[in-house]
Amino acid sequence: MEYQHPYPSPELEAAHPFRALEFERLPLHEMRTRSRRFAETMGRRRSVRMFAADPVPADLIETAVATAGTAPSGANLQPWTFVAVSDPAIKRSIREAAEQEERRNYDGGRINEEWRAALAPLGTDRHKEFLEIAPWLVVLFEQRYGIAADGTRIHHYYVKESVGIAAGLFVAAVHGMGLATLPHTPSPMAFLSRILGRPENERPFVLFPVGYPLDGVKVPVLYRKPLDRILVRVGAAD
Ligand SMILES: Cc1cc2nc3c(=O)[nH]c(=O)nc-3n(C[C@H](O)[C@H](O)[C@H](O)COP(=O)(O)O)c2cc1C
Repeated sequence: MEYQHPYPSPELEAAHPFRALEFERLPLHEMRTRSRRFAETMGRRRSVRMFAADPVPADLIETAVATAGTAPSGANLQPWTFVAVSDPAIKRSIREAAEQEERRNYDGGRINEEWRAALAPLGTDRHKEFLEIAPWLVVLFEQRYGIAADGTRIHHYYVKESVGIAAGLFVAAVHGMGLATLPHTPSPMAFLSRILGRPENERPFVLFPVGYPLDGVKVPVLYRKPLDRILVRVGAAD
């Protein structure tokens, strides 16, 4: 089948800048090697709930955020803000506020029985010491709408989908550089907007402590669904 409607059309290219895609076709064996290597690397990723206090240079955090910032987003509006915190007093405030919410979640009945059962193998509770000990807390905010230079609102499209993809790239980048993180959601998370002084258009999406895992840290033995339970193929096998 031939393309009848090339992209960009001459009219589009006359109105907006386009450039040739930089892309190198790789030999199949190389693609397989790379895909396996990446899958193995990502397969070793685990969420960590005890971090070492060892410092992590700021440039590594910047690179992880820059990687996340390459994520695709609805209409390329990039509706995310990352706030990277290393200040001990702010980290302490975040820990205290998170533990207050988590106390209500775990001990105050805000988590129902079904949720409690799902969390049981992880053994999570209201204690969040890692929020003070990890060298960095990176808080990802979703921008529900943008604000133009003249103060008017800019509609953002597919905010959750876009920010979720950026979060995934952030997690992959952190793991790929030899650090660990945990997607943490001590809900409700409005305290993060207050402590970090974020504007009205931003809402906390997820909180990532980042650092080295504490030596000897343990993680729950988890089951990952096999491929045949997460992949549905439509079309003939090649
Ligand atoms: C959106 C999201 C929110 C999460 N919130 C929490 C949380 O608040 N506390 C926590 O200990 N783990 C949290 N997790 C981590 C999950 O429990 C963890 O990813 C899952 O058990 C799988 O383990 P793994 O990340 O080691 O593969 C969250 C994960 C995601 C994706």
